[in-house]
Amino acid sequence: MKGGCISVLFVLILIKSFDFGVLFHNFTVKFIIMVSDKIAQLINEQIAHEQYAAQYYLSMSAWFSSKDLDGIANYFRVQSKEELMHADKMFDYLNDVGGQIIIGEIAKPPHEFANAIDIFEKALEHEKKVTKSIFNIVKNANDEGDFATTSFLQWFINEQVEEEASASQYVTKIKMVSDNPSALYLFDQELSQRVFVANATA
Ligand SMILES: [Fe+2]
Ligand SMILES: [Fe+2]
Repeated sequence: MKGGCISVLFVLILIKSFDFGVLFHNFTVKFIIMVSDKIAQLINEQIAHEQYAAQYYLSMSAWFSSKDLDGIANYFRVQSKEELMHADKMFDYLNDVGGQIIIGEIAKPPHEFANAIDIFEKALEHEKKVTKSIFNIVKNANDEGDFATTSFLQWFINEQVEEEASASQYVTKIKMVSDNPSALYLFDQELSQRVFVANATA
């Protein structure tokens, strides 16, 4: 009987120390790497840039929908979803490295555009801005010796290379087809094929 009590006590102690171990482990894993306040601020700003880009592309999508160019509208709709996915990735990263997440204000995007070429040119222009802004975070992270952030942002640098390349290609294409209804129809068909894939690059 005495032996049985000791065994129960021993098991209880084991359970207790296991619980504590798990809690302690989670605590140390969560905060072993921490970003500086400056990097956290830059990432928070980047989250807002990505969310703004999502709104901007949604507005472009709406413009094409209003012209019955549903394929091109689909392209920008998918582009918008990708930008939200980028914001989510940054949100999760900042959370993982113990940075305080502060959701910023998102400005209203333009909704009036001169024509289809104007939209594709603005999309390319915007991607270039985003690239610069990501480079700026990488530069700051490098200066601080924040290897976790530079490594995390490598995915975004590769993504921007793809984004700029495809945006620039579409500027060339829309210039070729915008004055030719048959060619524009085929271009619209081509862009209707795009589907959103989580974690995909452009
Ligand atoms: Fe993005
Ligand atoms: Fe983008």
